[in-house]
Amino acid sequence: MYNNILTKNFTAVTITRLSLPTLFLVIFCTLALFISQPSLAHNGATGIVKERMDLMDRLKVAMKSLATIYRGGQVYDAQQVREAATIIEQHSANTMARLFPEGSVQHPSTAKANIWRNWDDFANLADRQQLISQGLFSAADNPPQQQNSQLSNMMGTPPPSMLSNSQLMGASENTAEDYASMPSNQVFKKLTDNCSSCHSRFRAKN
Ligand code: HEC
Repeated sequence: MYNNILTKNFTAVTITRLSLPTLFLVIFCTLALFISQPSLAHNGATGIVKERMDLMDRLKVAMKSLATIYRGGQVYDAQQVREAATIIEQHSANTMARLFPEGSVQHPSTAKANIWRNWDDFANLADRQQLISQGLFSAADNPPQQQNSQLSNMMGTPPPSMLSNSQLMGASENTAEDYASMPSNQVFKKLTDNCSSCHSRFRAKN
């Protein structure tokens, strides 16, 4: 009889001791699972295709924040520009290109197979994104300028004939120094053009 009560008490104590940490563990695991639940975006993309879609989405977010800055309506913040430029830079060049192994066009990818027939051009666009985003970082302290005043600046000093080829309008192969000396909104424009150049050649519309 005494023995029985002792055993019961012991069991009860053991369960209480065990169950509290266990309970916390269960709650913790449930929360962790919930928080780390992968997003269901990209129509069920997996593996490398999902990885590059995620990379592209991060680029989109950074570009959107820049677009908001350059649309005006808020005080120009060079630090915000540098932060977005850094994110874009970190998702360029080989970090981007390595997510396109040959032939990886499995559903729901919209990547075109011509990527691997024109690999140098594709990789070059990914490299240019790095160069331009570095340029944007350097140009962040150059205030944005309206197209009109850019034009009148060019009409003033120095005369167009004194400008280097790469500084003339329409030239696409700018150097890091060129970008660093441009109004930052112009560098941003180069960046959006670079996204579009790659998409129009190497990405199918869905
Ligand atoms: C070197 C080429 C290249 C460059 C540069 C590039 N992209 Fe892409 N992007 C692609 C390709 C190819 C796809 C299609 C990927 C797929 O579906 O597998 C894509 C897809 C996307 C998508 C769709 C992702 C999804 O969830 O389906 C977005 C958004 C995007 N890019 C944004 C950007 C932005 C913003 C930039 C510029 C900052 C940029 N990309 C620069 C090649 C490029």
